[in-house]
Amino acid sequence: MTDSPFLSIQNLHGWYGESHVLHGVDVKVHEGEVVSLLGRNGAGRTSTLRAILGLLSRREGSIRIAGKETISMAPYRIPRLGIGYCPEERGIFASLTTEENLELPPRVAEGGMSVEEIYRIFPNLAERRSSPGTKLSGGEQQMLAIARILRTGAKLLLLDEISEGLAPVIVQKLADTIRFLKGRGYTIVMVEQNFRFAAPLADRFYVIEHGSVAMELKQAELEARQEELARFLGV
Ligand SMILES: Nc1ncnc2c1ncn2[C@@H]1O[C@H](COP(=O)(O)OP(=O)(O)O)[C@@H](O)[C@H]1O
Ligand SMILES: [Mg+2]
Repeated sequence: MTDSPFLSIQNLHGWYGESHVLHGVDVKVHEGEVVSLLGRNGAGRTSTLRAILGLLSRREGSIRIAGKETISMAPYRIPRLGIGYCPEERGIFASLTTEENLELPPRVAEGGMSVEEIYRIFPNLAERRSSPGTKLSGGEQQMLAIARILRTGAKLLLLDEISEGLAPVIVQKLADTIRFLKGRGYTIVMVEQNFRFAAPLADRFYVIEHGSVAMELKQAELEARQEELARFLGV
C-alpha cells in the first residue's frame, strides 16, 4: 500500500441532465485495497462509479487517479489510466461467443491477462468458450463480465453489484474471485447491496446516502459499529 491514494474523490458533485444526484462524495482508495460502497437503492453508488468514468452529463469536484486530476478529462481517456468497469447490467453481447466477448474490449494498459490465463482462472468459461452469450447462466455471464476487464490490463476494477440475483454457490465463487484478484494486487471498488457478501471481502466500507458519504468504516470496526451500520442500511 502506498501513502497517496490510487483513487481520490473529493467533493464530487454529479448530474444527469438537470437532476443533481451526487452532493459532495469523498472516497479514497489505496493501491491494492478492496473498498465497498454500500447503501440503499438510489443512494448514488452506481452514479459514483459512472462519475469516475466521466459517464454523467456533468461532474464537479476532484477525482484524482494515480495522481492525475481527471475531472475535466474526456471520458474516452479515463479507462486508459488503467480502469475497468463492470456495470450492473453486465453488458455481455448475446450474439457473440464467450471467447468473442473476451476478445472484444481494447487493451487500456500493459499487463492484461491472455485469454488462456483467463481460462485457467475461470475453467467454466473455458468449457463455454464457443457458447453464445445468450446460452450462459447468470453466474457465467457475471464471471465473463469480470474476466473481460482483466484482459484489458486495468488495475483498478469498478464492480457494480456483481452478486445480485445469483445463487449462493455462485456468490461464493465470486467471493473467491475477489480474494484471488486482491492477492494479485488489483485495486477494487465494489458496489454492493448484499452486505453479507461484501463484509468479509472489503478492507474498508463507505455508506452512501442521498449522494454523499454518510459513514466510513474499516474492516476491523465492523463488529463494534454493527448497529450504526444496520441503521443506515436498513438491515
Ligand atoms: N440515468 C439516470 N437519469 C436520471 N437519474 C438517474 C439516472 N440513473 C440514476 N438516477 C438517479 O440518481 C440517484 C442515484 O442513483 P444510483 O446511483 O443508480 O443509486 P444506487 O446505485 O446507489 O442504487 C437516484 O435518485 C436515481 O433515481
Ligand atoms: Mg446501482
